[in-house]
Amino acid sequence: PTSEQVQSFVLKTLDSQGSIANSNDLVLNLENGQKVTFVSGESQTLLKGALDSLASREMLSYEIKTTFDHALSPEGSQIAAKGSHEALVWAALPLKGQGEPMGIPELKKVVGDETTKIGQGKAFKNKWITKEGSGFVKAVESIEDTTRAELEEVAKTGTHSSGEKLLADLRKRKLIIQRKHIHYSATKGPEFALEVKKLETDLTTEMLSSGSWKTQAYKKYNFNAAGALPEGGALHPLLKVRTEFRQIFFDMGFTEMPTNKFVESAFWNFDAMFVPQQHPAREMQDTFYLKEPQVSQAPPQEYFERVKKVHEVGGYGSIGYRAPFSEEESKKLLLRTHTTAVSADMLYKIANQEGGFKPVKMFSIDRVFRNETPDATHLAEFHQVEGVIADYDITLGNLIAILEVFMKKAGLGDNLRFKPAYNPYTEPSAEVFSYHAGLGKWIEVGNSGMFRTEFVQVAGIPEGVRVLGFGLSLERPFLLRYEMNDIRQLVGHKSDINFIRNAPAVRMDQD
Ligand code: PHE
Repeated sequence: PTSEQVQSFVLKTLDSQGSIANSNDLVLNLENGQKVTFVSGESQTLLKGALDSLASREMLSYEIKTTFDHALSPEGSQIAAKGSHEALVWAALPLKGQGEPMGIPELKKVVGDETTKIGQGKAFKNKWITKEGSGFVKAVESIEDTTRAELEEVAKTGTHSSGEKLLADLRKRKLIIQRKHIHYSATKGPEFALEVKKLETDLTTEMLSSGSWKTQAYKKYNFNAAGALPEGGALHPLLKVRTEFRQIFFDMGFTEMPTNKFVESAFWNFDAMFVPQQHPAREMQDTFYLKEPQVSQAPPQEYFERVKKVHEVGGYGSIGYRAPFSEEESKKLLLRTHTTAVSADMLYKIANQEGGFKPVKMFSIDRVFRNETPDATHLAEFHQVEGVIADYDITLGNLIAILEVFMKKAGLGDNLRFKPAYNPYTEPSAEVFSYHAGLGKWIEVGNSGMFRTEFVQVAGIPEGVRVLGFGLSLERPFLLRYEMNDIRQLVGHKSDINFIRNAPAVRMDQD
């Protein structure tokens, strides 16, 4: 039936009977001859909907009544059908003096293992059977199988005349199961009528001008409605991981570098770091250059001259690139391709600060941009996790040790390998690999090295000071941790907003 049919049926019943004592007694006769009751399941849900809707209009009020009854468990049904275990054991045995006593193994063959196990003891306790030699015989000629009789009564009536104590015992023996039932009782409400009026939810100008608002019935506010889910902002999972990594750096005594500008000049991104002006990474295909404005402010003049000189002719033990150095190239504005541009700026500032150079440990975690065609493993932007350490007489060993501590704390692996590599601004340079137990292979997680004298001393950092650095990607370990195989699931229009909102901040090494 439709909910309208049920509503009108309920109203008609109330009209003719005055009230509904028990909805289980209701029978709706459909036009096609079908009879519908409302005792359980879908039809009961339909009835409840009709009652709710009519109650909200105060056309009736209703109560939910709970009742309990009992049904037989599978074991109980079996006993009701065939007899209790003890009765079956008794029945299988010969009467005392009238046959061969039966031993346990044989009894098991006749009535089964289970019945023998349970029934034998009970029949014995009831004095129905007795031992003779090594077997059993009937001790009495007839028995009364009370358990079976009790269960038959429960099956027929849903309860037992002896009351709750017996029922509790049968429940404990798992022979019967208590069932909960619901039914409704209803009485007329103040707005009772046979027709369900359409309730208005809004007051309109027409209703006001025609005066119909005076007689119109209105839908009540439902203050219990769940309401619309408030949409709030959420930290992107990558930023949750960043928060965790920042804390690890702070714990290790690092200070954070100001990476809050994405635009840099080629001077800081490349030249100051001794990246040759002819380096392929500078090409438009690899680096995003700005259209507007195109040109940066001039870097500190004297420093610029030193950088230019070391590029063109060398110095500090270097022979330079021996190629012309273009000031125009140097002033080009671009989206930084690495956060090392900020590190270069910071190192220059520290070298030239009041009171002179002091040892530092610095880090940054922020976005960098590369002119890549996005695919499963590349985006045009990603996050770099960068560390820079400048101190007297430190070595590559310090770099390895610091990386090992950081990686372990960050849950990125405590099994690292370093592979010689090339960077224009570091020498020696080493790619960092971490063993990924889940994938069963070595994963490249970053790049590191010792900054070149051509950069360090030109910036004004005293002789004897070594500058170590490393750069990791934030996305890489994240994808591994979440077992995602497409970086576009994480950033951009292909990502699932619910995942972004709900993904917990997880440690990389924890499941
Ligand atoms: N800037 C390097 C990169 O983009 C990372 C790096 C930082 C390497 C510091 C060495 C030293 O991969």
